[in-house]
Amino acid sequence: MVRQEVDGGVAVLTLANPPVNALGAALRAALDEALATAIADDSVRAIVLAAEGRVFVGGADITEFGKPQRPPSLPDILDRLDASPKPVMAAIGGAALGGGLELAMACHGRVAAPSAKLGLPEIKLGIIPGAGGTQRLPRLIGPDAAFRMMLTGEPVPAETAASLGIVDAAVLGDLVAAARTRVLEIADSGALPRARDRSEKLTPEARARFEAQAAEAVRRDPDATNVHALARAVRAGLEQDFDAAVAVERAEFRTLVEDPRSKALRYAFFAEREAARVPGLPKDTPRRTLATAAVIGAGTMGGGIAMCFANAGIPVTVIETEAAALERGLDRVKGLYAGSAKRGSITEAQRDERVGRISGAIGLEHAGEADIVIEAAFEDMGVKREIFSKLDTIAKPGAILATNTSYLDVNAIAAVTGRPQDVLGLHFFSPANVMRLVEVVRAEKTAPDVLATALDLGKRLNKLPVTVGVCFGFVGNRMLERRSRAGERLLLEGALPHEVDAAVTGFGFRMGPFAMGDLAGLDIGWRSRKDFGGRAPVADSLAEMGRYGQKTGRGFYLYPDGARTGTRDPEVEALIARVAAEHGITRRSFTPDEIVARLMYPMVNEGARILEEGIAARPGDIDTIWINGYNWPAWRGGPMHWADTVGLKTVAEALSRFAAETGDDSQAPAPLLRRLADEGGRFAAWKATA
Ligand code: 3HC
Repeated sequence: MVRQEVDGGVAVLTLANPPVNALGAALRAALDEALATAIADDSVRAIVLAAEGRVFVGGADITEFGKPQRPPSLPDILDRLDASPKPVMAAIGGAALGGGLELAMACHGRVAAPSAKLGLPEIKLGIIPGAGGTQRLPRLIGPDAAFRMMLTGEPVPAETAASLGIVDAAVLGDLVAAARTRVLEIADSGALPRARDRSEKLTPEARARFEAQAAEAVRRDPDATNVHALARAVRAGLEQDFDAAVAVERAEFRTLVEDPRSKALRYAFFAEREAARVPGLPKDTPRRTLATAAVIGAGTMGGGIAMCFANAGIPVTVIETEAAALERGLDRVKGLYAGSAKRGSITEAQRDERVGRISGAIGLEHAGEADIVIEAAFEDMGVKREIFSKLDTIAKPGAILATNTSYLDVNAIAAVTGRPQDVLGLHFFSPANVMRLVEVVRAEKTAPDVLATALDLGKRLNKLPVTVGVCFGFVGNRMLERRSRAGERLLLEGALPHEVDAAVTGFGFRMGPFAMGDLAGLDIGWRSRKDFGGRAPVADSLAEMGRYGQKTGRGFYLYPDGARTGTRDPEVEALIARVAAEHGITRRSFTPDEIVARLMYPMVNEGARILEEGIAARPGDIDTIWINGYNWPAWRGGPMHWADTVGLKTVAEALSRFAAETGDDSQAPAPLLRRLADEGGRFAAWKATA
């Protein structure tokens, strides 16, 4: 796991623990032993610590968290580095994250390849750095800059790391050779530089800036236990000696590892990665070549999807039926790129390159050369079937034909072609150029190589593809529909829109369902209910009154003078009371907890049905979809993980009660949920045994 080569007085220790050199027990033991050997070896004057692969060290091994740790611990290894009489230089060839950067910072110097990235992303896992990171980083770059970096968790590129002072230099060419030269210079100098001994950046001014940032961070996210802990750990380093401050950090870290928020975030980390593996789809499934793409429809969705291709370097043709629509669509895309260049998120050269990769054409025949065609036309089965039957005669053999439908039956769309094996759904979320989630809809006849190619494409487009089966609304929208229905029912039973929204934002969503409806436009749901059936008496009445939400200045709320935050409208509240009376419902008040249960338990129940039907392969896939496509708070781990933390018995009993109270049998617990509740089981365990 650690290769050792001694040459010219320098021992080069190379970590080799694929895929990311995570510092698990075996690697820690091997590294500790290799260091001890090199330090004891009289022929060795200096040590270089390098790593194999594209990641230097991806951090502590997250799978070991919460379990008893086998020694040596990472802090034990850092103690050995601190005590080393010989200099150790880290040669950082790829990402040095979390414990990986902490290891490097405990060395006596660091050099990095220009492509390397360095960061302490622990905050994203609900914890804080636990191996001296909160102490050494402030000593290297100042407490203010260090706090900022640890608060966002975002890594910085090598050049930035060098200018901040995290690494000594970003070096082109042979990294290990450069590390050797430098470490020998240190050995010759006779003085061992250690981050722990430095204090010149711990100035009163930097401390004041850190305190201001910490106060702001805590104000913005008062419930984030790890943000408070991060501030305390950094502060300890300014008030106490190094070892005492490291002990404070370690205690905070240990507490946070047991925090339900961190458990949920770690669960979400692995669920996201597991979603990439589709049961029954072997890793070595052949892939089709994807070099060119066509998108049908230049609307908001089509334009956004075209941008994803252009951003990934894939030339794409946007196809419309008439010139005006095409021009409007392409102008919108150019406007978005111009905005990004103006904000500095891309360079002007990148803007031009990306715009240059998008061409427009009138007429489906222009899809004939594309390796993949994505239809993003009007959400209507007739329209889609017509497009696909024409595409069948136009697309080249072997081209992948994808529909961006949000609800419709992909099997029925595939059936109009003579090549259903090449057809699947790629459900992008709006805005498609921003949102990471893509539901990859595997239809009955979708060929394995088409699915595998689509999943690879998702990664190339920098997306998070999750495979789902065919049903109305797939995973995300099918569950959302349950929440919408429950929301309407709550209004009739006595809650007001602002109370429901407040309960949902209190739960952790950025927006409540009614504010969201007003933002998206109430006409959308109203039209789709007209097409697909279903009634939402309150929302439909509002739409019928021309109250479409923000765009008309009135929806569930009022938006006077173009305001973006709505205010309560007595007219809406009177309307709700009237509709409730018409339905013979006696209204009552609800607590925020009751509101959350009424909205979210039916979603969990639908999730259970989705699992039973095999529409999603595992609870983690559902959770990944909700966290990344619908803003479910990641620290609650997604609806299925959250239900496990609530207790499935509680959820099932509440659903039985809702069904009895409302006379709506579809609210009763699904068989899977009922069974797990009876057995005292959890969705997480279902994953393991299914
Ligand atoms: N521990 C355990 N497994 C890890 C891991 C870690 N720190 N980091 C990655 N892995 C695993 C993934 O689960 C995945 O496993 P799989 O193939 O079985 O699904 C595999 O390594 C490859 O990971 P990715 O698919 O994410 O590979 P990428 O190349 O896309 O990304 C990466 C590589 C940027 C290193 C990314 O994996 C990542 O961000 N990892 C987590 C980094 C992190 O949060 N580090 C801090 C850990 S906490 C810590 O260090 C505490 C310390 O302060 C004491």
